[in-house]
Amino acid sequence: MFLTREDEELLNGEHGEGAKIAMSVLVKLGEMYDADRMLNVENVHIDGSAYGWINDSGLELVEKFCSLGVRFRVPATLNPSSIDFDMWKELQMSSRVAEKQLRLANALKRMGATPTWTCAPYQYGADVRFGQNVAWGESNAVGFANTVVGARTERLGDLADVCSAIVGKYPYFGLYRDENRRGEMLFELRKQDLETFGPTDYGILGFFIGSVAEAKIPVVSGIPKNVTTDQLKSYCAAVAVGGSVGLSHLCGVTPEAETVAHACHGSIPEEKITIGTNQLEQTRQKLSTLKGDCPEVICLGCPHYSVQELTRLAQLLKGKKVKKDVRLVVLTSRAAKTLAVEMGAVKTIESSGGKVIADTCWNFVPFEGRTLMTDSVKMAWVSMSKFTEVGIGNMDRCVEAAVGIMR
Ligand code: F3S
Repeated sequence: MFLTREDEELLNGEHGEGAKIAMSVLVKLGEMYDADRMLNVENVHIDGSAYGWINDSGLELVEKFCSLGVRFRVPATLNPSSIDFDMWKELQMSSRVAEKQLRLANALKRMGATPTWTCAPYQYGADVRFGQNVAWGESNAVGFANTVVGARTERLGDLADVCSAIVGKYPYFGLYRDENRRGEMLFELRKQDLETFGPTDYGILGFFIGSVAEAKIPVVSGIPKNVTTDQLKSYCAAVAVGGSVGLSHLCGVTPEAETVAHACHGSIPEEKITIGTNQLEQTRQKLSTLKGDCPEVICLGCPHYSVQELTRLAQLLKGKKVKKDVRLVVLTSRAAKTLAVEMGAVKTIESSGGKVIADTCWNFVPFEGRTLMTDSVKMAWVSMSKFTEVGIGNMDRCVEAAVGIMR
């Protein structure tokens, strides 16, 4: 792999021991993926921010970097942690995990990370623009950066992201390269299907496309220009778990895909699939194993809810009470929660019996129930080993189930 003089200096330890370790990890990674050089990145989103994912060995490495005096070279935002920093005791999260998460948070912040603690950093905290090379972890965020913003990022693994923030570089391979961003498989949507689509429907659409495209790059025609950020967030989260899709070309939405020809770099797509209501209904059924309408847990906010979603939820819950035998949990970022507190939405949700949790991911919330309803296709798919029955419903449907309105 070609290394610039600065890369060599970093690798030789001329910029400190921490940068030397980080650079040697990235060079090895680049060699594994046949990268021919390193790339400068503008910012990093660190997925290795939860003690629950990186465990003791990861914590030890981050603390070692910190003790070596490392400071991040580029802006770095943080994915969810393993705890809600304000409410972990109330939520009965483990004090052993909390103690280690607090140490990890302390080290990351001392190195210069912005404590966003969110998997939707593109909504709160990250400054990312079209055409930038960035280095992001967390599959929905990677998808959003590539698909919606038109920035370029590969899918970073835990701790490779920390190394990248230390040196401001990442090996040049995968989705950074023009030739790997060419659309390969065309999905055409019938217009009438989209008129009533909400975020959950976009999740189902994403899951279907991901499961067909697998590792290929899908091109999707028929998405309306007024699609919302929350709908795109849901699409990007689901397409990444349906397949391993880190970039979709949504014609007219993705900045580098105004048309199908543009998305396919002038070539013809290898395959064309028309999506109608049947495929989406079958996908919804595949993802829903819940029998009946009475889940014990209702969990919203995977990826983290925006202020708009929190305020809409508050409107739906206003004047209603969550049933005693149901636990309604909403996950969001600290930034969105702070704004939603100002707007009175959190008070309304919590007066109804819901709980708004910040900084963390549902994976770390202790749930007692074994049956779940969620508006998140990603959560429905990933949580099937944690819950015995899982149901998908949009926000309205989840609220109806929470307060006991049966259909
Ligand atoms: Fe976010 Fe956790 Fe879902 S990190 S996208 S809430 S699985």
